[in-house]
Amino acid sequence: MGNLHIHVTLFLIVLFAQSYVHCIDQDPIAVEDWFKGIETMKEKITKLHFYFHDIVSGNNPTAMRVAKPNSYISLTGFGNVVMADDVLTSEPEANSTIVGRAQGMYASASMEDLGFLMTMNFAFNSGEFNGSTLSLLGRNPVLHEYREMPIVGGSGVFRMARGIATAKTYSFNLLGDAIVEYNVLVSHY
Ligand SMILES: *[C@@H]1O[C@H](CO)[C@@H](O)[C@H](O)[C@H]1NC(C)=O
Ligand SMILES: *[C@@H]1O[C@H](CO)[C@@H](O)[C@H](O)[C@H]1NC(C)=O
Repeated sequence: MGNLHIHVTLFLIVLFAQSYVHCIDQDPIAVEDWFKGIETMKEKITKLHFYFHDIVSGNNPTAMRVAKPNSYISLTGFGNVVMADDVLTSEPEANSTIVGRAQGMYASASMEDLGFLMTMNFAFNSGEFNGSTLSLLGRNPVLHEYREMPIVGGSGVFRMARGIATAKTYSFNLLGDAIVEYNVLVSHY
């Protein structure tokens, strides 16, 4: 048994060492390439401006609650989770040009005031940004005039994006529908 144990241990060490050697054999090339590439790339700054249509009422809502707390009830709706596929337009009017969609979730994450956790991908579908995305992750105190949330990444033309989104409510109704103006500033490669 003792010998078997040693053999198994040795076998595992060899296996581990092999895969480790395998890794350091491969990695320098890939990493070097990556750095070579990035050095020739220029950081760019892009500003975006659009309107976010969060429609929760009517026959065609684009945002809907998907989870709620079992028993706990708070004035801030703590625990409610909403999934959205909201239209983004160039102007406040719903019939203006659609530039993309905001796909993701917002959830009431604050017990004492109205504060949402936002986890959203902005998926653009027009012009030079068609097919590119930006990912937003932040706290949205919706009753404040200006809310500032981090942009934590991106894809396509927005690779390695980081930046800031500011949100300002443009209009809302008593059914809970809201149109929100977004200004986004990102640096990316
Ligand atoms: C868009 O809707 C507004 C009303 O909200 C209307 O006045 C305007 O004519 C519409 N424009 C188009 C292009 O349909
Ligand atoms: C955006 O890209 C998709 C897929 O490549 C394409 O089908 C669509 O026509 C493009 N839209 C615009 C407005 O360029």
